Amino acid sequence: MSKKIKKIGVMTSGGDAPGMNAAIRAIVRACSYYNVECVGIYRGYQGMIEGDFVKLTARSVHNIINKGGTILKSARSKEFRTKEGRAKAYKNLTAANIDALVLIGGDGTFTGGMVFNSEYNFPCIGIPGTIDNDIFGTNYTVGYDTALNTVVEAIDKIRDTASSHNRLFFVEVMGRDAGFIALNTGVGAGAEEILIPEEDLGLDRLLESLKRSKRSGKSSSIVVVAEGDKIGKNVFELANYVEENLQQYEVRVSVLGHMQRGGSPSCFDRVLASRLGVKAVELLLDGEKNLMVGFINNKVDTTDLEKAVKGHHTINKELLRVSDIITM
Ligand code: F6P
Repeated sequence: MSKKIKKIGVMTSGGDAPGMNAAIRAIVRACSYYNVECVGIYRGYQGMIEGDFVKLTARSVHNIINKGGTILKSARSKEFRTKEGRAKAYKNLTAANIDALVLIGGDGTFTGGMVFNSEYNFPCIGIPGTIDNDIFGTNYTVGYDTALNTVVEAIDKIRDTASSHNRLFFVEVMGRDAGFIALNTGVGAGAEEILIPEEDLGLDRLLESLKRSKRSGKSSSIVVVAEGDKIGKNVFELANYVEENLQQYEVRVSVLGHMQRGGSPSCFDRVLASRLGVKAVELLLDGEKNLMVGFINNKVDTTDLEKAVKGHHTINKELLRVSDIITM
C-alpha cells in the first residue's frame, strides 16, 4: 500500500514556458478541491535543496492564469545532479511533510524526478512544459502553442520590411534540438525555406531553391532556421554564405531569441495546462508515480517518465512537403 498523500509539492524547472502559471494554478486548486495541502518550491530542484518553499492556497494563485513565466521561478540545478544535493532535497521535503511532487518542465526535469524516485521512492508526476514541444508522450507541451503564435506574429512583422526593401531574411527561432517551432511557424508564416535539425537539406539545395524563387518573380523571401539546425553553419554564417553566392539578394538576419518564451499564454496553453494540472494531482492521489501526464489524440493520457525521457517525439515531415508545394 502506498502512503496516503496529504501534501503535494509543485515546482517549475528548466526553461520557463507560457502556461506554467496556469498549470500551477490548476494543481493548487485541485489540491484544495481534494483537501490536500500544496507547497510551492521556488527555482526547481535548487529551491528543493535550499528548502525554499511557500504554502499555496486556492487564493494564492488568483490572477495568474494569464501570466507568462512562472511565479515559482525556474532554474537548472547542477547540485541536484549530485547524491549530496539530492540528499539535502529529500531532507527538506520530509521536514516539510511533503509526500509527493508535481514537476513541470522538460527532459532534464523528468530525469531528476526519476533518479530521485529510484533513490528515495518519492512519488513524482511530470507535466511537459517547454516551448520546444520535444517531449515524447504528448502531442503538445505547455507553452508551445503560445510560442508558435508569438513567432508567427514576429515573422509577419519582419515580412513587412522584407517586402518593402526586397530583402531575404533569415529568421532564427528557438529549438536547440528540435524543429517543431521552425517547421510549424515556417508553414504558418509562409516561409520560403525551413531549416530544422531533423533534416539536413544541404546548402546546395537551399541556394537552388532561392535562385528558383528569384526566377519565379519573388522580390523578397523569408527562411526560418531552427537554432539547432545541422546544416553546418550558424545563422549568420549561413546568411553570409548565401549573400556571397547569390549576389542578387540583399540579406538580413533576425534572431528572435527569448521573446519567444515570454508573453501571456494562448487559450490552448491555458486549457492544456489546466487539464494536465488537475490530472497530475488525481494521479498522485490514486497512488500513481513516475508518470508524465500528456495530451495524446485529443485526450489526457499518461506515459512512464522513463519513456518520456528516452523516447523521441518525431516531427511531421509531411509539413516539409506541404511547405515545398505552397511556396512555389
Ligand atoms: O528548452 C527551451 C529553450 O528555449 C531552447 O529552445 C533554447 O535553446 C533554450 O531553451 C535556451 O535556454 P536558456 O534560456 O538557458 O538560454
